[in-house]
Amino acid sequence: MSTAPRIDIDPAAFWADPYPMLAKMRQEAPIAFVPQLGSTLLTSRDDISISEKQIDVFSSHQPAGLMHRLMGHNMMRKDGEAHQAERRAMFPTVSPKTVKAHWTALFQAHAERIIDAIAPGSRIDFMRDFALPFSGECLKSITGLTNIGYQDMDAWSQGMIEGIANYGDDPEVEARCHAATSGIDAAIDDILPVMRKHPDQSILGVLLASGMAMESVRANVKLAISGGQNEPRKAIAGTVWALLSHPDQLALVRSGEVSWLQAFEEYARWISPIGMSPRRIAKPWRIRDVSFERDERVFLMFGSANRDEKHFERADVFDVRRDTSKSVAFGAGPHFCAGAFASRAMIAEVALPTLFARAKNLEIADDEPVRIGGWAFRGLQNLPVKWLQ
Ligand code: HEM
Repeated sequence: MSTAPRIDIDPAAFWADPYPMLAKMRQEAPIAFVPQLGSTLLTSRDDISISEKQIDVFSSHQPAGLMHRLMGHNMMRKDGEAHQAERRAMFPTVSPKTVKAHWTALFQAHAERIIDAIAPGSRIDFMRDFALPFSGECLKSITGLTNIGYQDMDAWSQGMIEGIANYGDDPEVEARCHAATSGIDAAIDDILPVMRKHPDQSILGVLLASGMAMESVRANVKLAISGGQNEPRKAIAGTVWALLSHPDQLALVRSGEVSWLQAFEEYARWISPIGMSPRRIAKPWRIRDVSFERDERVFLMFGSANRDEKHFERADVFDVRRDTSKSVAFGAGPHFCAGAFASRAMIAEVALPTLFARAKNLEIADDEPVRIGGWAFRGLQNLPVKWLQ
């Protein structure tokens, strides 16, 4: 165990709102051991930015880790050339060029079709009726699993991210994660004959074409589903909620003074959909007066780095004019999100401008509270709105 000062948390309060405790940690003990999480947390942006690049110390290879055990050995749990080789194999699908030339038009068609089904003037749950199906349809296209429903995509993504954040070892959570990975394996088996005959630009298509071992193909498709459904869904609903609850900020975007991309990036900084990424200490190490032992677990707290007062003034304030270039919402090192270009297109080029063009007077409904939660993965659970044009 590290020699970091011990800080106790109330897990329920931390799940409800981690930011006050993270601010306290940045202030008093930016490297702290939290017994309730069984890990040492890095909460300052500088420590996270430096450490994530030191892969010989802060290793992503965690054979005993929840993700490796439950989802297989994917690129996010590899270091060095083994990692880079799998990243290169996936790149043809998620490259800026392919996103621009191939996926963006498809994303637009998904958005228009889903909005066509929403009755003007109706009271909807924006998360259930737009953000969830839109993210699911886009991810079916990107992964190549067009033989499933978006509901499956969402349930499997949810099952896996709860499984890999199951630090309380809840057996039901683990069982749901296993059901999710078996569902994905069955969907891959079902579409494989077609994909082998007609490989396309999807993740499954390009990984098969790269000659990657089938076990790794499955593990990386599961990875894309775990990270590629939950985060966009939360970021779309979250940015809409942030703009509707800050009308002055929405006015800046509508006037064209600020772009939809800036609005999304600021939301992802303010409430980072991925609030934490784990690492294993690969050799004894020291940061200032804290010593780390080999094989202990460390959490890189991205959600805290994005509220670090040293780098962001009024860090707790949603401000679309803010310079977000220092945000680590997509990571801060070699594991920088492979889906970042696709996400920016999906959210800032398609979802946000289309929504606010088709529902000019969209407003939050006041007949139900908006629920938000999580620290490893954080975001809205619902968003009641009136779909006013
Ligand atoms: C708002 C949307 C998203 C956010 C905020 C997000 C965030 C992240 C973060 C923080 C990491 C890095 C974790 C680390 O350093 O350990 C990551 C990695 C990754 N993301 Fe995303 N992600 C998003 C959407 C997507 C989408 C749509 C896809 C799939 C198409 C995707 C696929 C991946 C993959 C494959 C990795 C692993 C990259 C590697 O290990 O080299 N993500 N994501």
